[in-house]
Amino acid sequence: MIFTVLTLFPGIFDSPLKESILKKAQEKNLISFNIVNIRDFATDAHKTCDDTPYGGGPGMIMKIEPIYNAMLNIEKNFDKPYYILLTPQGKIFSQKDARRLSKKTHLCLICGRYEGIDERITNLVDEEISIGDYVLSGGEIPALVLIDTISRHIPGVLGSKDSITNESLEEPLLEYPQYTRPEVFMDMTVPKVLLSGNHEEIRKWRRKESIKKTIMRRPDLMESFNPTREDQFFIKEIMEELTE
Ligand code: ADE
Repeated sequence: MIFTVLTLFPGIFDSPLKESILKKAQEKNLISFNIVNIRDFATDAHKTCDDTPYGGGPGMIMKIEPIYNAMLNIEKNFDKPYYILLTPQGKIFSQKDARRLSKKTHLCLICGRYEGIDERITNLVDEEISIGDYVLSGGEIPALVLIDTISRHIPGVLGSKDSITNESLEEPLLEYPQYTRPEVFMDMTVPKVLLSGNHEEIRKWRRKESIKKTIMRRPDLMESFNPTREDQFFIKEIMEELTE
């Protein structure tokens, strides 16, 4: 998978792509990055990339031509990528989108800054994505969120020990609680069952805790949960415990 990023601040991508899982994935040639400075595609002597809004009002708007020129340049060197605009006006990004987008061969993430980009950009992209109902200073951090999340779905990026299936929201449940040494920390103990060595009991405890956590913290996720018979039994127990 190739990730091309169009940005006015390429430096933001320097360190996040050089650490941990994304670093290893590049070493394994599973992903590669092409970070493009939009300013390199401005046509005037001052390399202008923004201008005042038509109709007046505060702030500056990113001009469309430098971005369009950058897109044409990409298409000279590669097949046409799948274009995504990062914007708070886009569709909210989910784990499902990450899985879907991980099947593409080349994504081009376009990062806006300032008060936004000339609206005509929306006709040049395949999709507009927001990472949540809050406004960041630009699309760079959202682009990193997409890169990280999508990369985790590419076969081979995660080792088998932290493979995606375990934590994927295929099943919309939150993770069960995990502990490691020491057994007692400031009077707080590790649940006994986890020390028992009884794998079946541990499996059942984890499943029930996972369901319990989801009911307590994200009841909205339960709507798309398909419980097994065993899960239904756990749900009944949890409800009884909660009303005790
Ligand atoms: N740019 C600014 N805020 C954003 C958000 N929440 N998602 C995507 N791009 C953004």
